[in-house]
Amino acid sequence: MSQPIPAGTLSGRTALVTGSSRGIGADTVRYFAEAGANVVINFRNKAPRAEKLAAQLRELGVQALVVGADLTDPASVADMFAQVAETFGSLDVLVLNASGGMESGMAEDYALTLNRDAQLSVLDHALPLLHGADDGRPASRVVFVTSHQAHFIRTTPTMPEYEAVALSKRAGEDALRERIPGLTESGIEFVVVSGDMIEGTITATLLERASPGAIASRRESAGKLYNVSEFAAEVARAAVDPVPADNTRLVGDTSFFDGE
Ligand SMILES: NC(=O)c1ccc[n+]([C@@H]2O[C@H](COP(=O)([O-])OP(=O)(O)OC[C@H]3O[C@@H](n4cnc5c(N)ncnc54)[C@H](OP(=O)(O)O)[C@@H]3O)[C@@H](O)[C@H]2O)c1
Repeated sequence: MSQPIPAGTLSGRTALVTGSSRGIGADTVRYFAEAGANVVINFRNKAPRAEKLAAQLRELGVQALVVGADLTDPASVADMFAQVAETFGSLDVLVLNASGGMESGMAEDYALTLNRDAQLSVLDHALPLLHGADDGRPASRVVFVTSHQAHFIRTTPTMPEYEAVALSKRAGEDALRERIPGLTESGIEFVVVSGDMIEGTITATLLERASPGAIASRRESAGKLYNVSEFAAEVARAAVDPVPADNTRLVGDTSFFDGE
């Protein structure tokens, strides 16, 4: 796994990745730690995995705070940021990675609750810890992670099994984008990172099960599908690379989605 951010780049800085006990979030938080950042690992259910990852990252010489929080519960989110404030005092990178809505047994509006409302709630609770550039310290950066299937849902239909999730994630993206002027006023940067289906994820596996051949079809259309560590590298880079003019980092080929 090559390092997307040079070692030392994030020394003395703090990064929180929501949903980082596994998958894309876990690899992203690892890249930040390898670049020297102190990290906050957030999980909902997978406490042992989160603790194991934290132990590995501490061996790199950084601090790792593990916080269990259900992001759909505002009290839980408030408690998470209270712990971050107490431990680190401020936050330089916030990656809104946690996502869901295909779980069984949830309320009908759960996807919207998690993928829109909870994202805003996390941002609002993080705001007191985020900062503009000062004293040689770069501005804080907020990164929202989404899929092409969600980002382009208004113009490119997706699989029926994923449609409600895609619409909820796009609603979350739109709601966050409405915050850009306020964030900019406070000197805080914002980037959306969007990618195609990622090989080896639970979401891709669930979609493949519901719609056999879905992954092969996306792979054929895109030429290449990213795996978890490759996509996480893009998410990590989005936290340090210059902010794109439209605040959007599209990963891989998007011609299928944007019709170019
Ligand atoms: N999978 C893909 O093909 C794909 C493609 C493009 C973009 N993306 C984007 O990449 C991001 C990560 O995707 P992924 O496939 O790695 O997701 P995932 O495997 O479904 O993992 C989601 C993460 O979110 C956490 N989470 C879920 N509900 C939560 C809640 N209520 N409160 C706190 N944490 C919660 C999970 O924590 P626990 O494990 O503790 O439950 C897990 O760590 C998402 O934003 C997704 O849209 C994914």
